Amino acid sequence: MPISVKLILSFLLIIVISNLIFTIVGVQIISSRIVSEAQEKVGRDLNSAREIYLSKLNHINDIVRLTADRFYIKDALISGNIGTFADELVRVKFNEKLDILNITDPMGTVLLRANNINLAGDSQAGNELVAAVMSKYVPIAASTIVPLADLQLESQLLVDQAHFTYIYTPMASTRRETEQTAGLFLEAAAPIFDYSNHLLGILYGGILLNRNYEIVDEIKKTVFQDLQYKGQDIGTSTIFQDDLRISTNVKNVDGSRAIGTRVSEEVFNQVIVKGQPFVGRAYVVNNWYITAYEPIKSINGQIDGILYVGILEQKYVDIRQQTLFTFLAITLAGVLVSMVIAYYISKKISAPINKLVSASAEVARGNLEARVEINSNDELGELSDTFNSMASALKGRDEKLKEFTKSKIMESERLALIGQLSANVAHELNNPLTGIVTYSHLLLEELPTDDPNRESLEKIVIQADRSRDIIRGLLDFSRQRKPDKTLCDVNAVLNGCVSLLEKQALFHNIQISTNLNVNLPLTIIDPSQIERVFINIIVNAADAMEGYGNLDLSTRLDPSDHFIEIEFSDTGHGIKKENLEKIFDPFFTTKDTGHGVGLGLAISFGIIKEHKGTISVESELEKGTTFIVRLPVTSEEESTKDD
Ligand SMILES: Nc1ncnc2c1ncn2[C@@H]1O[C@H](COP(=O)(O)OP(=O)(O)O)[C@@H](O)[C@H]1O
Ligand SMILES: [Mg+2]
Repeated sequence: MPISVKLILSFLLIIVISNLIFTIVGVQIISSRIVSEAQEKVGRDLNSAREIYLSKLNHINDIVRLTADRFYIKDALISGNIGTFADELVRVKFNEKLDILNITDPMGTVLLRANNINLAGDSQAGNELVAAVMSKYVPIAASTIVPLADLQLESQLLVDQAHFTYIYTPMASTRRETEQTAGLFLEAAAPIFDYSNHLLGILYGGILLNRNYEIVDEIKKTVFQDLQYKGQDIGTSTIFQDDLRISTNVKNVDGSRAIGTRVSEEVFNQVIVKGQPFVGRAYVVNNWYITAYEPIKSINGQIDGILYVGILEQKYVDIRQQTLFTFLAITLAGVLVSMVIAYYISKKISAPINKLVSASAEVARGNLEARVEINSNDELGELSDTFNSMASALKGRDEKLKEFTKSKIMESERLALIGQLSANVAHELNNPLTGIVTYSHLLLEELPTDDPNRESLEKIVIQADRSRDIIRGLLDFSRQRKPDKTLCDVNAVLNGCVSLLEKQALFHNIQISTNLNVNLPLTIIDPSQIERVFINIIVNAADAMEGYGNLDLSTRLDPSDHFIEIEFSDTGHGIKKENLEKIFDPFFTTKDTGHGVGLGLAISFGIIKEHKGTISVESELEKGTTFIVRLPVTSEEESTKDD
């Protein structure tokens, strides 16, 4: 995977992960904020609703209190003919849209009933408000429950208006009753005094809340401004009598008001049973609302019902969803933007790397002129500088190497020329020299032992022999005759060399020990040529030890079984490091003139090379030298195949 793709991917990974966290946390915070905000709002809305509810109650209180204070009513009571006030009472009830307006005597017995002028004499001392005025002599107003019996005294209309058959409601608590006959009233009662402040009677009246939508609709209008969301009222309000919806603007699916249904069991337990407010999410009729409920209490603290407001949750759900989408859109945009940025950054980073890569490839292909141009002050800039100096160094070394090889080639050409020249010279000298050797020997044989010239002649013979040896060596070296190979035992060849040499004076004080592997396979070699190599190496060793020392000879099969290794180890003076490379060169010798020609190892090298073997040397000054000759194990078939 290219480095730029890796960079882009890792950028993206970081961005996507951080954005996801940002989105999740953000949406979480905002949505919980929205919900708590909505709940706070509903809590405030419930306060406003209560104010509207109470202002209605106050209004009734004012009417009753002011009416009770009018002298018409006092005069009628003082005169003992309350009937004269009947028309006025009916008028007030009608004008002020009250459902009940009655006058009792100080003991609570009804004297005049606006709904039923002809029906009086029943006791209303059991009415909470009437009883309160009887004992405290002050006006009072409150929510109160009016039972069926009292409603029947008033009118059939009120009985019908108050009556509900319970409608089955899924999450409501179970009830034994199936209907509701009493009514929930906003009522006020006020004392009627004579001119010297004696209690003459009590005026009480109120409105029935059952199926009266004035308060809930006013709440909806004032608090929620009748706002709608997707065709539904956002804000709703309900008055419950006990747990029964008696006045509401929560709608059924068919658009009618959802009266007759009941509050959920959860709210019932909290508000009616425990008398505590309830704020939270609640399923109302057929939708989820964010709701607030609080108990409606009578003057005795008894819980008569519930006041409820709620706002449609859908709106907040949608806001939450929009928030989520907005966040996701921001995330997506962020990812896109950062992708573009990541692309440019990674290009900026990878471009110099690519330059370096292609320059390296150029160098690898052999173009040492390749350079990279990166002008940045960072590691990449440093790397490019290092690369450039590396390429320069390579180029310098390459040039030196070329020069060196050129000089080497020239040298070997020169050597070849010398070889050619010396071969020619040797060839030309061979015949006359043979004559000199033969005749000097004959002369020496025939010369009497006491001849004064004998000593000089002997010297001539020795020098002539030596010259013949040199010429032979030269001829051998240059002749490159084809080897005459047969299947041989290398151990036998080596033993032959030892027995030939150990009798010679040079070896009298040299301890030769042999450690030969008897299981060596036979191999195809030219025995006389290999013998020459061995003799050469052994004589060199004896020369290096100057006649005194140990010479260890060993043979073995190398681990691969493909080569026979012959090792010659002496305790001679060793070879200087700078000479190690030269000893195989023709005419290289460290021996005195007259002792060595420097052709032995050169010839040996050629012979071993021709046998497809190797010859190697290790040496330590003053300690000794080890030569190792490696010869391939070749069977007869293999060798004929080669030829
Ligand atoms: N076993 C050895 N110990 C030390 N030097 C050696 C040994 N064998 C060869 N040499 C060095 O290698 C040189 C070349 O050897 P060679 O080619 O046989 O020529 P020559 O024996 O005529 O000098 C020798 O002059 C000697 O310096
Ligand atoms: Mg030699």
